[in-house]
Amino acid sequence: MSRSEETYRKAIKILAKNSYIVTIQGKTYRRSIPSLDFYRHQWFWDSCTHMLALNQIHPTWAYDDAYSLLAGQWKNGLIGHITFNPDEENYFPGPQFWGTEKESQHGVISTGIIQPPLLAMSVGYLYAHAKDRKRVEKFIEDALPGVVKYHQYLKTYRDPEDCGLISIVHPWESGEDNSPLWDEVLATIKMEDIPAEVIETVKTSRKDLELGSSQDRPQVIDYNRYIYLVDLYKKLDWDYTKIIQETPFAVKEVHTNSIWARANEELGNLLTALGREEEGKLYLSWATQTRKAIQDLWDPETQLYTALSVGKGREMTIREDTLAQFMPFYANAVREDVLPVLLKKLTDPQQYWSVYPIPSVPITSPKYEVARYWRGPMWPITNYFLIDGLNYYKDRAECKKIQEELLTKTLSTIEQFSFHEHYDPLTGIADSYFKDRSGMGFQSFTWSAAIYIYLVNNYKINFAEPVL
Ligand code: DGY
Repeated sequence: MSRSEETYRKAIKILAKNSYIVTIQGKTYRRSIPSLDFYRHQWFWDSCTHMLALNQIHPTWAYDDAYSLLAGQWKNGLIGHITFNPDEENYFPGPQFWGTEKESQHGVISTGIIQPPLLAMSVGYLYAHAKDRKRVEKFIEDALPGVVKYHQYLKTYRDPEDCGLISIVHPWESGEDNSPLWDEVLATIKMEDIPAEVIETVKTSRKDLELGSSQDRPQVIDYNRYIYLVDLYKKLDWDYTKIIQETPFAVKEVHTNSIWARANEELGNLLTALGREEEGKLYLSWATQTRKAIQDLWDPETQLYTALSVGKGREMTIREDTLAQFMPFYANAVREDVLPVLLKKLTDPQQYWSVYPIPSVPITSPKYEVARYWRGPMWPITNYFLIDGLNYYKDRAECKKIQEELLTKTLSTIEQFSFHEHYDPLTGIADSYFKDRSGMGFQSFTWSAAIYIYLVNNYKINFAEPVL
């Protein structure tokens, strides 16, 4: 058995195990969860990624993940970043904290914020890669109205200016919770703005520090602000017209918007493939609009894609170098003149081309921290975005080469160190820093297993040959 084959089998086991059964409106569904150690609810962008691999193992499980997410969709179209498991109490902030019950449908309680809008990609992938056409057509018939409604929500409430860029209103909405991208805006929320009971709740309720390592997790100061924002939106009754006007944290940035552009492209293409060209045109036009807006975020002076803080009284331009800089590849939005700048940055061993690339922050940046979540570690999900994004550019030899190398390095990191939540860009599992640790973040992580399976299948990795 080659190494890759063994890893593949382990990946299947993780995907099969990290789940639970839920009953919604009398029907049972299987929900996948990110890890058994801590994340025991359904996370939106994790699940969207799990679907790509579940389709390979057991398509019903992939459809179930989508059905479960859509079952909890709010009347206004929002799908929460966590769909809660009613039997699970070991997470903070849990279902009771969010105050979203009155928005919930079919008894499914979710949070009131989003995560990167990957759903159209997953549904499009399931449609394109189904063996049983009749079954997938039924799935599409069931799922598509919810996906369309979700995109309508994002356009209406998150881009009321119709500028092509959606705003995120919480760092968790990006999925990259404590990225340095949010530092400047979060710093405008002063401790004295935060109600004492919020600070007290954070102090007494965090489960991530009980179940995982504090070195991997966001700092207390970040958590106070995260929970302050949730508390504020709860007080605004989860009314997104008000939230967008009142929030101190609203950011338009390239990470979420590259996914938004691609999601609209996928949705437009899916509708077209189903013979609904006219409808499809709308989403294709949104994709074009967003790609152009992403290109306009490029600042030739600093050679960075900027982010715009548009929260109340917080208008500012953010210039922060994180791996979000490479996300426009995923949206096919990299301009000719910008391409060489990005490639140079990406392949520089002092910045992003570390031993186990791609770090979330350049390894020589003063903000780089080896283990702290999105402030240093390498994450398979963002590698996958770049590998897939480079498909748009692979008629250029240098892009094709980078894509191949990154694919090999991503697979071999997982083979070498197993399925961690994230990895040390320099040593893989940072064992020189944490002698008593078996890995970084939470273990047997479903995302890492799903991405392994997806990459092996999508890039036709030959099992007869070891990948390394
Ligand atoms: C967490 O709890 O760490 C999550 O990333 C928030 O979604």
